[in-house]
Amino acid sequence: MAVEYITSRNMISLIYETMRVMNVGAAHHGVRVGYIMAKLLETRGTYEKYEIADFMILAMLHDIGAFKTDDVRKQLTYEAKRTLPHSIYGYLFLKYLAPFGERSKMILYHHMDYTKTKDLDYRYRFELELLKIAEMMDIWYKAFDEKFEYSMINRYSGTKFDPEAVAVLGQTIERDDFFEKIKNNTFGDEVDEYEDYVLLSDEEKEKYLKMLMYFTGLKDESMVAETISVISVSRELVRKLGLNESDKNEIYYAALLHDIGMLAIPAQLLNAPRNLNEEEKNLIKTHVEIMEKMLEGKISDSIIRIAASHHERFDGSGYPRGLKASSMSNKDAILQISEYVVNALREKPYRMAHTKNEVTDDLNNGIITGRYDAIVADIFMKHFDDIMEIAEDKADMALVMYQKLLRNYKQVYNSLV
Ligand SMILES: [Fe+2]
Ligand SMILES: [Fe+2]
Ligand SMILES: [Fe+2]
Repeated sequence: MAVEYITSRNMISLIYETMRVMNVGAAHHGVRVGYIMAKLLETRGTYEKYEIADFMILAMLHDIGAFKTDDVRKQLTYEAKRTLPHSIYGYLFLKYLAPFGERSKMILYHHMDYTKTKDLDYRYRFELELLKIAEMMDIWYKAFDEKFEYSMINRYSGTKFDPEAVAVLGQTIERDDFFEKIKNNTFGDEVDEYEDYVLLSDEEKEKYLKMLMYFTGLKDESMVAETISVISVSRELVRKLGLNESDKNEIYYAALLHDIGMLAIPAQLLNAPRNLNEEEKNLIKTHVEIMEKMLEGKISDSIIRIAASHHERFDGSGYPRGLKASSMSNKDAILQISEYVVNALREKPYRMAHTKNEVTDDLNNGIITGRYDAIVADIFMKHFDDIMEIAEDKADMALVMYQKLLRNYKQVYNSLV
């Protein structure tokens, strides 16, 4: 169903945009490594364009684990000194939460020397060797600038790097001035062209959209649990209110993406165990407009509108626009109430969880003052326990998934050190 709301090309630019919001430097590095990877595969000559495009996307995300395991701004630490954590986490993240299948394993080995990878019984071993070169080339090229030359990579042929892959780099340099293009940032057109060859299935788009939501978990896993609860509450409300299929889908995607703007907010503010000052509160509030800008022109407007009104209130007291009932619909009301109840009922580092009574009182007051849509709020209160039980189960499942990921992380770590 995601197919009607976003094109393949826009999906890729949304992934890039989301990474950019998380960290500009890391996003640029990712896109350059993706570009170099594409050029190397092109030189090799045995890949179809759509295959090259797929590897380019994976390469763009190769350091995604660093957002969890390291301070992503300290690139030299995780790319040179302590390379295992982000490689393992990135591999597991992409394996479970993105549509890369077996190719995600390339990320696990992307800092491992050729002497260790050469005998791997792995379908994408050669592509992995190219990815390693693409990654190192970008790092060294940036570090050494004018002084960077092919011989620096070639020196490690047979030790760090696969001789065959090094040869591919040599041929690429000969046939194209791609060093120059990277240096002057003029490779965008070529990346664009490859993006034209990305053809995602409905299932892949769906998985990528979810992956963007899981990006928030790289910062704070409880954000994922919360979003999953919000999706669940809104889904139950949609069902009870008998909305049609298209409304249901719009609300689902709006719920899925409503807080991805939080990726731009410093993590220490999100869960600060204290009351925030005005300035800090206002900074957090910008997450709505940031999300809107990220999604604008990429995903259907109707979804953006619902997502953007999740902190609006029917009496005009919400943000960012202070919209009133007359310019909102029951779809907006569903997300607003779902988001409010899930948040209120959860314990936060800066306050206790609100009780069922407190939430019900607030909703009832809100109906009287016009803050909440009466029909949606009533339906929720009528089925309070049932709806929240399902939502909590769903959130627990997300946390169990993270525990599994952590166990897996430790297993892989121990097997590699
Ligand atoms: Fe990297
Ligand atoms: Fe890396
Ligand atoms: Fe929010």
